[in-house]
Amino acid sequence: MLATLRFVTLDKTHIPKILEIEQSTHSAPWSQRSFENELEHKYGVFLVGFLEGEICAYGGVWILVDEAHVTNVVVRENLRGQGIGRRLMIELLEKARTKGAVCATLEVRASNASAIHLYETLGFVQTTVRKKYYPDNKEDAVVMMLNDLLDWKPSAK
Ligand SMILES: CC(C)(COP(=O)(O)OP(=O)(O)OC[C@H]1O[C@@H](n2cnc3c(N)ncnc32)[C@H](O)[C@@H]1OP(=O)(O)O)[C@@H](O)C(=O)NCCC(=O)NCCS
Repeated sequence: MLATLRFVTLDKTHIPKILEIEQSTHSAPWSQRSFENELEHKYGVFLVGFLEGEICAYGGVWILVDEAHVTNVVVRENLRGQGIGRRLMIELLEKARTKGAVCATLEVRASNASAIHLYETLGFVQTTVRKKYYPDNKEDAVVMMLNDLLDWKPSAK
């Protein structure tokens, strides 16, 4: 099923479809401008996944000195639970490592059990909780960290 999965760098032609997916996914979706900013982000990596020619996923990191901060990760709803999110994270973090990142961080909604599980299987650990971090519903954020990106050897399932 995932034999044709490929990741490419975000291009402006991808943005209309990504916006559609984004708006059906997040309660506080990124704007078109936010995605356009990723096109020329000096310290960013933003990848788009294609499965059988269709956009199936996207996500990005910003590299802040030597830390890769995960900014957005989405898999189309009907394609979740098959390992695409894991493959996307691996691609993102491997690219970040080639650009000098030695560790990675992210925030995730405390209720997002599937994302937290995915990040833990990739080696992230929960470090702290930011109370009422998300403005839309005042939900807490769990801060997660992957400490040693240099020695990190995840396996794709
Ligand atoms: C988080 C997300 C990117 C994961 O993508 P995915 O392609 O489904 O991820 P994978 O299939 O690679 O792995 C999902 C893991 O979570 C598990 N999982 C799925 N639903 C789960 C749930 N409700 N509770 C716990 N684990 C769950 C899967 O079994 C799998 O674990 P396994 O590898 O041990 O079997 C996807 O769910 C998504 O786009 N969610 C909406 C956007 C979002 O929340 N992004 C993250 C913001 S921080």
